[in-house]
Amino acid sequence: PELFLPERRNSVGHDLMARGDFARIDAARGAFVGQEFSAAPRLAVPVQSDEVVPVMNPARSEERVGQVTLASAADVDAALGAARVWDASAEERAAILNRAADAYEANAGEFYAILAREAGKSMPDCEGELREAVDFLRYYAARITTDMTPRGRLVCISPWNFPLAIFTGQIAGALAAGNAVLAKPAEQTPLVADLATRLMLEAGVPSHALQLLPGDGAVVGAALTRDPRVDGVVFTGSTETAQIIRRSMAEHLDPGAPLIAETGGLNAMIVDSTALPEQVVRDVVASAFQSAGQRCSALRCLYVQEDVADHLLQMLYGAMDALEIGDPWLVSTDVGPVIDAEAAGGIRSYVSKARRERRVLHELRAPDQGHFIAPVAIKVSGIEELEREVFGPVLHIARFKARDLPKVMAAINARGYGLTFGLHTRIDDRVQEIVETMRVGNTYVNRNQIGAVVGSQPFGGEALSGTGPKAGGPEYVARLAMPVAAPEVA
Ligand code: NAD
Ligand code: ALA
Repeated sequence: PELFLPERRNSVGHDLMARGDFARIDAARGAFVGQEFSAAPRLAVPVQSDEVVPVMNPARSEERVGQVTLASAADVDAALGAARVWDASAEERAAILNRAADAYEANAGEFYAILAREAGKSMPDCEGELREAVDFLRYYAARITTDMTPRGRLVCISPWNFPLAIFTGQIAGALAAGNAVLAKPAEQTPLVADLATRLMLEAGVPSHALQLLPGDGAVVGAALTRDPRVDGVVFTGSTETAQIIRRSMAEHLDPGAPLIAETGGLNAMIVDSTALPEQVVRDVVASAFQSAGQRCSALRCLYVQEDVADHLLQMLYGAMDALEIGDPWLVSTDVGPVIDAEAAGGIRSYVSKARRERRVLHELRAPDQGHFIAPVAIKVSGIEELEREVFGPVLHIARFKARDLPKVMAAINARGYGLTFGLHTRIDDRVQEIVETMRVGNTYVNRNQIGAVVGSQPFGGEALSGTGPKAGGPEYVARLAMPVAAPEVA
């Protein structure tokens, strides 16, 4: 097979303190300072809805970034009626997806501006998002084979936390296999989805093969996932929403229609007494606090071996103190806001409870304006104490005794999620033993546990964290095409 070289140079271990080629990013987005953006359904038929809502900046809650026209149930119906599979040749589809990738790169400045102001993305995150989206387009284009038969109408439902990368990855995978895509971006991030869709259409994807339906999950998402004309659903978001969609599909869709779901996680990292403290601290900070902890892959529960815990945690708190929390538009910012008032409210009450219970080990201060949550470390006895995935810069820390390592691994596995897992140790045999025991999709040893790279680190979880196939992996596009019949045995 051909060698795929991901272009996301900055993605592996771009730690929070790293300052990349930010002058270039700053210059590229400069033309869009203060600009208002708009989004609307992009359909192969006339749009019927005229319900317009504003899109606000999570870092400056009074600042309007633009507006979105929400699709209605009637638009969903019309879009499904107009959807047709993409009957271009494999070569043509690949060429158009690559052309879309070029267009993304050429429009980097506008993407950076929207990602910062609509989604609260810091500069390294803006760059990581764009690189990952471009990688998805090029990688899935390279995975197209001439014998692929599309499944038909595929619904792609994406989250706000990777509003460009995951939005694009789902669509690129489905289009690569020749399907007709109905894309439903998250409520919070329609503007970046609109720009991405426009660029894919301008690159040559026909309007009947790619339609954009911005709107509410409970309205547009629900209407799409209960329509029998739908041949499959590609979903990334919370485990709870995936369960709602699965039930709806079971009731209304053909039993053969697949649900490809990538969902939440309760991700742990184990650090033993042989680990390199400086490296651990850098990797924990990135894993827990980059993107303000709003990554499905983010570290939620850190286990530190008792013998080294005091020393290591003092170092960790020192590194946390060095983080800059603030407006993602600023080059100096490490940790931006969480996505909206609802998210901030939920995390604040979670942290307040921990404060009342005297379990807060270390906490920073967040700006008063905007939906900011200060990075915080909370003491737990183990992962079993975590009630749910807290989607923000909240790190739980547990200490363990060396002899209890098997119990720690069992406790992590027992939670039933299986997305990412981190391990810091310098004992080779232990790496082998632990990696074989942990039931997770992505294991990271002696590095951070975020930022999987398309093509070289396929990403996706097991059990409550996802169905597979892994995004950015060799099976993804084929899974979105009709299964190839097994050869008959003579
Ligand atoms: P969410 O489940 O609230 O929303 C995801 C999408 O589903 C949105 O577009 C939303 O509008 C839509 N939706 C909501 N209700 C729906 C319904 N009834 N029917 C159909 N669609 C509906 O998740 P979120 O808050 O946007 O994203 C954060 C979650 O996503 C976290 O749990 C995170 O772990 C997870 N996530 C997982 C991955 C992964 O690869 N495993 C990647 C990113 C995010
Ligand atoms: N692919 C994203 C990461 O690995 C979710 O952080």
